[in-house]
Amino acid sequence: MDTENKKSERELFSSKFGFIISCIGAALGLGNIWMFSYRLGAYGGAAFLIPYFLFVFLLGTTGLIIEFAFGRSHRAGSLTGIQRIFRNKSIRGANLLGAIPVIGLTGIMIFYSVVIGWILKYFYLSISGELFNQDHVTLFSNFTGSSSAIPWTILAVLITLGIVFSGIAKGIEKLNKIVIPILMLIFVLMIVRSLTLDGAMAGVKYLLHPQWEALLNIETWVMALGQAFFTVSLTGCALVVYGSYAHDSAELVSASFNTAMYDSIAALMAAFMIIPAVFAFGLDPAAGPSLLFITIPKVFSVMPYGQPLSILFFLSIIFAAITSSVSMLEGPVEALISSTKIKRKKATILIALLVIILAIPLTLDNHLFERFADLITIIVSPIGAMLLAFVAVYLYSDELLKEINKSRRRPIGQWFITYARFIYVPITILIIVLGIIFGGIG
Ligand code: TRP
Repeated sequence: MDTENKKSERELFSSKFGFIISCIGAALGLGNIWMFSYRLGAYGGAAFLIPYFLFVFLLGTTGLIIEFAFGRSHRAGSLTGIQRIFRNKSIRGANLLGAIPVIGLTGIMIFYSVVIGWILKYFYLSISGELFNQDHVTLFSNFTGSSSAIPWTILAVLITLGIVFSGIAKGIEKLNKIVIPILMLIFVLMIVRSLTLDGAMAGVKYLLHPQWEALLNIETWVMALGQAFFTVSLTGCALVVYGSYAHDSAELVSASFNTAMYDSIAALMAAFMIIPAVFAFGLDPAAGPSLLFITIPKVFSVMPYGQPLSILFFLSIIFAAITSSVSMLEGPVEALISSTKIKRKKATILIALLVIILAIPLTLDNHLFERFADLITIIVSPIGAMLLAFVAVYLYSDELLKEINKSRRRPIGQWFITYARFIYVPITILIIVLGIIFGGIG
């Protein structure tokens, strides 16, 4: 067909490095910061790393390889890809099913934007100095769920829009190339500060002292599984779209391993920057929003040089979150561009508007926010990831394998498809079931 033309029209990442660092940026997000550190300590310390790495490298990378190859093979996102496959096989329901990954990803962007808004506000409060010597519980509960949070949500979406507006190489890739190294540098600095505080070793012990008996607890394995899938950003959409912008010469298997590896390194770094400091000041580590917005501000209030460190800290969290949110916006934007042929800027504005409109009720109502985030992370988005993997390895396996092997010297054999069909896809279904049983594992 006219794939050559399609390729030349489509903007690509300018280099393999640009592609990989953008994938790392998408993977590295709040899950690394407010979930991993807590789970590492709570589910067995160093012992948790065994199921975590097992799942990240056996399952997470499989999912990444599938999403990258699916996208690059079609030079399109999941909606278009699924539509083409179904059309070729005269199967009905392509529009409906193909829309699920896009809807799931847009849903993630909607609630993520609310949280980025909170982070922007805390960054601002760090600069103005209002963050310190406060009752942080009251501060957080008065701000979230109130109309004063709305402008911050809107600002979060506008920043993301500004990047996606400029396209792949000049927008998304450039952002990642600049901010991921800065983020890593800030992490290193903060780790040194955290580890040199008096009493930090209690936190190191919490993180590393292996409690092997945790491995006998089924919940440890379930949480490691959820963490592994969420952290590499498998949604059947975002990384399909990034894969569709990768050069033919990019080796997708190593791109997947690099994404998983650097994402895990960043998660470990986040743990060592946060937990020792929390212990040094006699606080309890927490998971989720209360870690970032209550515990950590308390730490900065009492720490020497708390203000500049707090500014740097929230800046690095903004970087982690924005490099993820651009991939969340690019997914639906690409779907809109390729299914309607409208231009990038217009598509970006339309999706951003939709996100703002849907995020406002969540900004105003914490309960609604939680219900919505659960619905998306437990049900819609895992179904999208499962669906894409299913279509890719059951209905498109020959082309998929060819795409994976395109730039490989030692081709991967048919075993990969068999493994994906009978182990990987069933586990994606298991994740949905476990998420419902445990009330969220990602
Ligand atoms: N991996 C991200 C994190 O750790 C969260 C995430 C899940 C995500 N799915 C995504 C990010 C899709 C970008 C795109 O916080």
